[in-house]
Amino acid sequence: MSKQERILVTSALPYANGPLHIGHAIGAYIPADVYTRYHRAKGTDIIYICGTDEHGTPITVTADNENTTPQKIVDKYHKQIKQTFAKLNISFDYFSRTTNKTHHKLSQEIFLEIKNKNLLYQKTVNRPYCPSCKKFLPDRYVKGTCPQCGETDQRGDQCEACGKQLEPHELKESYCILCHKPPVMKETIHWFFKLTEYEKPLRKWIEGNTHWPDNARNFSLGWLREGLKDRAITRDLSWGIPVPVAGSEDKVLYVWFDAPIGYISSTIEWAQKKGDINLWKKYWKQKNTKIIHFIGKDNIPFHAIIWPAILMAEGSLNLPHQISSNEYLNLEGKKMSTSRGWVIWLHEILDKWPTDYLRYYLLCINPAKHDTDFSLTDYKHHINHELISTLGNFIHRTLTFIKQNNKGIIPEPGVLDETDNKAVKAIEDAVNNTAAYIEDYRFSQALQSMMALAHEGNSYFQHKEPWANENNTTLYVCANMVGALSIIMEPFLPASAQNIRRMLNLKKEMKWDDAKEINLEGGHVLGEINPLYDKIEDVEINEFKKNHLKTDKEDKKMSNIGFEDFKAMDLRIAQIVDVQDHPNADKLYLLTVSLGEQTRQLVAGLKTDYSKKDLINRQVVVVANLKPAKIRGKKSEGMILAADVDGKPILLQPDKKTSLGARVR
Ligand code: 2FM
Ligand code: ZN
Repeated sequence: MSKQERILVTSALPYANGPLHIGHAIGAYIPADVYTRYHRAKGTDIIYICGTDEHGTPITVTADNENTTPQKIVDKYHKQIKQTFAKLNISFDYFSRTTNKTHHKLSQEIFLEIKNKNLLYQKTVNRPYCPSCKKFLPDRYVKGTCPQCGETDQRGDQCEACGKQLEPHELKESYCILCHKPPVMKETIHWFFKLTEYEKPLRKWIEGNTHWPDNARNFSLGWLREGLKDRAITRDLSWGIPVPVAGSEDKVLYVWFDAPIGYISSTIEWAQKKGDINLWKKYWKQKNTKIIHFIGKDNIPFHAIIWPAILMAEGSLNLPHQISSNEYLNLEGKKMSTSRGWVIWLHEILDKWPTDYLRYYLLCINPAKHDTDFSLTDYKHHINHELISTLGNFIHRTLTFIKQNNKGIIPEPGVLDETDNKAVKAIEDAVNNTAAYIEDYRFSQALQSMMALAHEGNSYFQHKEPWANENNTTLYVCANMVGALSIIMEPFLPASAQNIRRMLNLKKEMKWDDAKEINLEGGHVLGEINPLYDKIEDVEINEFKKNHLKTDKEDKKMSNIGFEDFKAMDLRIAQIVDVQDHPNADKLYLLTVSLGEQTRQLVAGLKTDYSKKDLINRQVVVVANLKPAKIRGKKSEGMILAADVDGKPILLQPDKKTSLGARVR
C-alpha cells in the first residue's frame, strides 16, 4: 500500500454479558491481531479499535437471569473481557465501552443527523407484549419457532440455525422468556430507518467490492435479492441510549444501531487520550483510510448492509473497505453451546497453557471458509509435533549449539555454498509468502509459510551436521534464520517472539522488512538461552477435559433442557397454611400455601407419608409458574418439590426460615 494510506482495524464489540470462549478468540480477534501486528511491523499507519457492547437485550436478559442490574453486569464483564484480551495478547490501541458518554453523545448525534435528512420516520406498530410481566418483549425476550427454517426455541432477533434476521413478532409459537406465557400484540410507536432507500446504492457498492470474501459478499447479495425492508431502530427497553427526541424519551436506540458507532466513539476516545482530539477524523473521514472489520459470520448482515447504509445516510464517514468474517468453530465435533456448557472458556485454557499454544492452534484451524473443529487431542498434537518439534526445536538446537560450542558468540561465516544460499533464500521466501498471505487475510496459510522457514532450518541443520563438520557458516546462517523467525512469527506468537529476541540479545525493535536482511553479524553475543516450550502431556489433556468439559453422558442428560429453560422455572419458597383431605382421592391432600402476597391451592400426593401435623406451617419449595391443572376435580396451582427416594417423597425445605415468595435459583 502507498505511504499515505492508513488502516483502521476493528473487531466486533463483544457483548459484556459473559466470559469469552475460544470461538470468540478465533472469530474476530486473533486474525485481526495478526493483521494489525504485521502492519505495525511494516510501518503502516494502523490502529486497532474495539470495546464492549453494553446495551440491548443480551445485557438485560443476563441481568434478569442473574437477578441483578444491567449496570452491574456490564461492569463485571467489561473488566473480565478486557483482562482476557490482555492475556490473549490482543494488541488493541484502544478498548472502550458503549456505556461511555462519548458514545451516547455520538450515537444520538448520528440519529439526529439521519432524522434531519428525513431518513427516519415514526410508525405505530404491533409488538409482542407480556401481560403477566407487564412489558414489551423486544428481541431476545421472545423465543419461538423460526418462520424460515422451522427450528424451535429461536431468539427473537436472529435464528441461530439458519441465520435469518428476525423481528420477535415474526416467530411462531412464541413465548415470553421470563414467564413462558405467550405474548399478546400491543401497539407501540417506533422510529424506522429508511433502509429501502439504500437497496440500489448498497447493491452497486457490494457488487463492486470484489475483494470481499465470498461469505460476506454472497450473504449480502442474497439478502438484497430478497429485498430490504425499513428497520425499526428503537426499542421499548429501559436500558440503552435514550432516543433524543421529545416524546420518545422512554424508548432507547436499538443496540445494533449504536454498537457499530462504537467503532467511531472508541476511536474518538483514543484520539483524546493521544492529546489530539481531531486525530480520529483522519481515520473516519479521510478517504485514504481503509476501515477493516473483523467479525464472526452471524454479524455479516449488520456490517455488510445495515451499518454501511447508516454510514451512507450520515454521509461524512468512511464505509468499510473490508469485512473479514470467520465461520464457526465447533468443539470436539459438536456445536459449541454456552447454555449446555459445551464450551472452552478463554480464561480457563489460558490459565492452563501458554497463550501462544492457543494462538498457534486456533490459527492452524482458522475457520475462514468453513466451520472447523477444535479438539483437545488435535491441539496437543499440533503443539507437540509442530510448534515444539519444528519451531521450538530449530530455535533451541541452534541457540544451544552456539552457546555450547562457540561460547554464545555467532561465528564469522566462511564462503556460502549452494546449500547455505538455499537456506538464506528460504528466509526471503518465508518473509514474502507470510506477508502476502496476511495481506490476503489467509491466516492459516500465513502461519504455515512462517513455519516453512522453521522446517527449512531443521533440514538445513540436519543436512550440514554441524556436530561433525566445520560449522561456522552453518551456525551463522541458522542464527539468522532464527533472527528472521523472531520477526515473522511476532504477529502469530508475540510472546514467543519476544522471548527469542531476548535470547538473541536483539534489543532494537525490528521491522518486517528487516527480516529479509542479515541481522546478526559474526561476533554478536547471544543472551541467556532457555527452553522455549514444554510438551503437553496426555494427563494434562485428560485432566482439562475432566474439569472443563462435560462428558457425553452428562451432556445427554442435559441436552433436553437449556439453562434458560431452567431459569424460566419460577421456584418459590412457600408455607403450608392449611391441609385438607382431597374429597375425591384417598392419597391426596388439598393444601393451601402462602407465597407471601398470594395464596395458592395445590393438590399433593403426600398423604401416605406425611400427616397433617407434619405439614402445617412447614416451608416448602413450589414451582409457581405451572399451568393450573385440575386433579380429581380440584384445581392445583403449582407443585411442591420433593426428592423421590424409592417412590417415597421427601420434601425439600430451606435450611432456615425464609421470607415467603423468595425466588429459588
Ligand atoms: O454479536 C455480538 O457479540 C455483537 N455485540 C457484535 C457487535 S459488533 C459492532 F457492531 F459493534
Ligand atoms: Zn412474561
